[in-house]
Amino acid sequence: MSTTSATSTLIEQLNWRYATKKMNGQKVSAETIDQILETIRLTATSYGLQPFTVLVIENPELKAKIQAAAYGQTQTVDCSHLLVFCGWNTVTAQHIDNYIQDIATQRNAPLEALEGFKGYIAGNVLPLDDNTKKIWIDKQIYIALGTALIAAAAAQVDATPMEGFVPAQVDEILGLAAQGLHSTVMLPLGYRDAAGDYLTGAKKVRRASDKFFKFL
Ligand SMILES: Cc1cc2nc3c(=O)[nH]c(=O)nc-3n(C[C@H](O)[C@H](O)[C@H](O)COP(=O)(O)O)c2cc1C
Repeated sequence: MSTTSATSTLIEQLNWRYATKKMNGQKVSAETIDQILETIRLTATSYGLQPFTVLVIENPELKAKIQAAAYGQTQTVDCSHLLVFCGWNTVTAQHIDNYIQDIATQRNAPLEALEGFKGYIAGNVLPLDDNTKKIWIDKQIYIALGTALIAAAAAQVDATPMEGFVPAQVDEILGLAAQGLHSTVMLPLGYRDAAGDYLTGAKKVRRASDKFFKFL
């Protein structure tokens, strides 16, 4: 496929996707879920640090509890898999050490050669105050969320980016504090209930290109 036609296909897929309000409970195959997860794992992050964890929830009881913490939004229970993107609560010197060790192992590079990079990350990230660090960590998650939305659309899987939940309640339900995590954003994956969802087929509302882009 040429680049142009691959991009046209992608634009069609992005027009097909929408933030699905009602899903039909049908399961997404394990193979397709694995592929979407792999695109999340491949997402770019600042320094490559990946300061978050993605929970993949199929358990109906857990989903029901999360629905209650998400203002009753039904896609949390009617989806096939509910992804909860969880930011690390902090980044420590140990996290950076682990990452540098991964680079050394996976690229077969000597640790000494990575000392400068390690010091650079540590010098930039460790001094940040807790709130600034949290905002920085959560920004990385939104890049992964975007990747997942595109990957789901390409696989003809419906998805709903969701911030409409009470993070403290979801953290409690999933025992996140004990894992050094906090919930940031959720992504139910499944299939639309085309007859039951008032937004199926609704025209996309986007600002016109000439009001959105400025060419300098
Ligand atoms: C970060 C984020 C949080 C969102 N939270 C919710 C949510 O809690 N529930 C929901 O139904 N839609 C949610 N949306 C979906 C948006 O309303 C939707 O993406 C927007 O209206 C554009 O429509 P489209 O995605 O269907 O093209 C969220 C979207 C984003 C990007």
